[in-house]
Amino acid sequence: MVKIESFSVEKWMDQYEHHCEHNIAETCCASISIDQLRELSEDKGREIFQASKPLTYGSIRGSDELRSNLARLYSAKATNPLSPDNILTTPGAIQANYLCAYALVGPGDHVICHYPTYQSLYDVPKQLGAEVDLWKAKAQNQWVPEIAKLKSLIKPNTKLIIVNNPNNPTGAVLKRPFLQELIDVASEHGIIVMCDEVYRPVFHSITPADSGFPPSLLSMDYRKVIVTGSMSKAYALAGIRVGWIASRDPEIIEQLAEARHYTTISVSQLDEQVAAYALHQNTIHSLLARNIKLAKTNLELLEKFVLKNDDACEWVKPLAGTTAFVKFHREGIPVDSVDFCEKLLKETGVLFVPGNECFGEEFKGYVRIGFVNHTEIIKEGLDKTTKFVRKSLDDVKLAT
Ligand SMILES: Cc1ncc(COP(=O)(O)O)c(C=O)c1O
Repeated sequence: MVKIESFSVEKWMDQYEHHCEHNIAETCCASISIDQLRELSEDKGREIFQASKPLTYGSIRGSDELRSNLARLYSAKATNPLSPDNILTTPGAIQANYLCAYALVGPGDHVICHYPTYQSLYDVPKQLGAEVDLWKAKAQNQWVPEIAKLKSLIKPNTKLIIVNNPNNPTGAVLKRPFLQELIDVASEHGIIVMCDEVYRPVFHSITPADSGFPPSLLSMDYRKVIVTGSMSKAYALAGIRVGWIASRDPEIIEQLAEARHYTTISVSQLDEQVAAYALHQNTIHSLLARNIKLAKTNLELLEKFVLKNDDACEWVKPLAGTTAFVKFHREGIPVDSVDFCEKLLKETGVLFVPGNECFGEEFKGYVRIGFVNHTEIIKEGLDKTTKFVRKSLDDVKLAT
């Protein structure tokens, strides 16, 4: 039987997210309803659901409309357009990531995974029998791991390198020159690179004019690249459970499609229709503009909070995505982040995620803050957190 460790961040959210007043743990841009989605469209008369369409399994690999819209997005800045045939839809990116590991690695294989990150990215390959090495990023290097370290981790049986860009929980970005080096190393050894890009394109603090602005890894000149994406985060539609896998390598797509027949068959037709509507040219621009504006507005509030409490916390300001990793301490000694989060929740109703519990023991004192929820929730929650820090930080246990 497969040994399954607790998926700590999902367990924490399951336990607390519906029992808090200010959810500042959420990683989705503030979710929208179908009515709000329609309001964002330039063509409000267009149907979202085709009510007369029989609810068969639909197109097995994903609807033509959804895959064409996705292919258009990946083709926009790439030298070569991407065909819809290079895309498979999935029930959320959680399943996209699962499938990549399920189809590609097993006992005898070695996997290297960017860290810290979303736990399933490194734990699923482990559950499937692969040996996993963590490629660690440190705060002092702006949460960017070192290429020299990657080179030293590679073994003859390294099958897959997994990265997450932009990163959850740090909000760091692996920039274009770094991605080029990563591809150079992987291609030298013929290793597949999988990049979880669910936080693309929430770029709140870096612009395409920046020379380091990261393209999708799919636009780099290497066929053995897989990217995964999602409607949940940047598109504020977690409730439809739509994610995807894209690769320029048809063999990889076929391998993943074979595995997907066992786990998925197809994705809900209703969900895919909503996703296709959201990604349509008529809607996507205003939807993303809303979410990036929300991220910028709320990040300003968070930055003020960090400055106001700079005797008790520190961070590397995130460049993209919906999360920040903030370290709380008392006179330089990290707090016990679980005790901090539990007391904060009890006293104020504010929910954060404890870093050392959900992202790795070494992240003592860290909390993950999801700051792209509604501005009022963030503002009131951060104000209450400032009061808590002033009044109760002395009562919080220190990390051991
Ligand atoms: C990095 C990362 N990948 C994947 C997922 C899962 O996303 P989805 O809702 O598309 O399944 C999450 C959710 O938090 C995430 O942070």
